[in-house]
Amino acid sequence: MTSSHSLDRRFTLAPMMEWSTSDCRTFWRLLTKKAVLYTEMVTTGALLHGDKSRFLDYNACEHPLALQLGGSDPIALAECARIAEDWGYDEVNLNCGCPSDRVQNGMIGACLMAEPELVADCIASMQNAVKIPVTVKHRIGIDDMEDYEGLVKFVGTIAETGCHTFIVHARKAWLKGLSPKENREIPPLQYDKVYQLKQDFPHLNIIINGGITTLAQSKNLLEHVDGVMIGREAYSNPYLLAQVDQQIYGVDRPVVSRGEVMQKFIQYCDEELANGTRLNHLTRHILGLYQGLPGARQFRRIISEQAHKPNAGIEVLERALAVLNEVPLADNLETGNA
Ligand SMILES: Cc1cc2nc3c(=O)[nH]c(=O)nc-3n(C[C@H](O)[C@H](O)[C@H](O)COP(=O)(O)O)c2cc1C
Repeated sequence: MTSSHSLDRRFTLAPMMEWSTSDCRTFWRLLTKKAVLYTEMVTTGALLHGDKSRFLDYNACEHPLALQLGGSDPIALAECARIAEDWGYDEVNLNCGCPSDRVQNGMIGACLMAEPELVADCIASMQNAVKIPVTVKHRIGIDDMEDYEGLVKFVGTIAETGCHTFIVHARKAWLKGLSPKENREIPPLQYDKVYQLKQDFPHLNIIINGGITTLAQSKNLLEHVDGVMIGREAYSNPYLLAQVDQQIYGVDRPVVSRGEVMQKFIQYCDEELANGTRLNHLTRHILGLYQGLPGARQFRRIISEQAHKPNAGIEVLERALAVLNEVPLADNLETGNA
C-alpha cells in the first residue's frame, strides 16, 4: 500500500518513547485532524527481528503519520523504510537526536551527528528503497562540535542526497554526563541557530522543535521556519491541540469541546477494552485534558486511582466526568484554553 496522505508539516507532534503510542495518537487525532504525527522510535533490530505488528500497527485515523526509525546500517534502514511504506506510513524519519547511552552503543541517535557521511549514506539508501519522504530529526550539535559549522556540515551533507526535511531540536545534546531527560532541559535552546539554518538553506523544509508551549508561539516561529514540532506540552496539556486546525491551517470548523473529545474517546476505550487492552494503558494519555480548569485535579485523580484496577471499565471515565460536572465553571470554559 502506498500512502496517499499529503504532508503539510506546519504543525507536527513529536516522537516520544512510551508516550506517542498509537492510543495517544488516536486521542490527539480527536483534537487535530491536520497535524502530522510521529511514532515512538523503533530500532531497525527490533523491527527486523521482532513482532512487526506490535511496532507498526496503527488506527486509520492517525494519518498523516510518520514512522521514526533508529539505526545506522544503510541496508537495514532501507529494509525498514520499505516495511514502513508497505504498512502505509506517510513518511519515515531517522532519529539523529536521541542522546541515551543505550542508543549510543548501537550507533543510534544523536551520536550520528558526528558522522554526516554515514547518515547521508543511510538516507540515500532509504530514499532508494521507497517513494515516501525520508526525513531526519536531529539536534543543533553534540558535545564539543562547533555549533553552527557542525550543523551546516551535517545538514548540507545530508541535503546533497535530496533529503528535503530536517526537524531540528534547537539545543545541543551533551552525550557525556547528562541523562536523556536532562538533555531535554539543560542545554540551552538556541532558536536563532535554526532560523539561520533556514536562511542558509532556503530550499529546505526546516521544522523547529524544543520548548514550544503555545499556538501563539508556534505562529511566531512559523515566521522564521517552515514548521513546528511540539512534544511534552502536547502530552501534558493536550487541549492545546484543539485549535491547531483553525489557527495554524486556517480550517473553518468549530473548535471541538473537551466533552466531545471525551465522548469519542470513551467509544474508543470501549472497543479497545473489548480487545483486552487495560483501561490505564488508554487513559494515561488523557490525564491532562482538563488542565487549567476547575476540577482538573479530581478528574486526574479518579482516573489515576481507578483505571489500573483489574476489570476497570469506562465507568471510571464516567465517574471522572461526573465530578467535573459538579464543579461550576468547567463547562463554561470548554473551549477557552487553547
Ligand atoms: C518521554 C519522551 C520520549 C522521547 N522519545 C523520543 C524518541 O523516541 N525519538 C525522538 O526523536 N525524540 C524523542 N523525544 C524528544 C522529543 O521528540 C522532543 O525532541 C523533545 O521532547 C523536545 O521537544 P518539546 O520541548 O516540545 O518536548 C522524547 C521526549 C520525551 C519527553
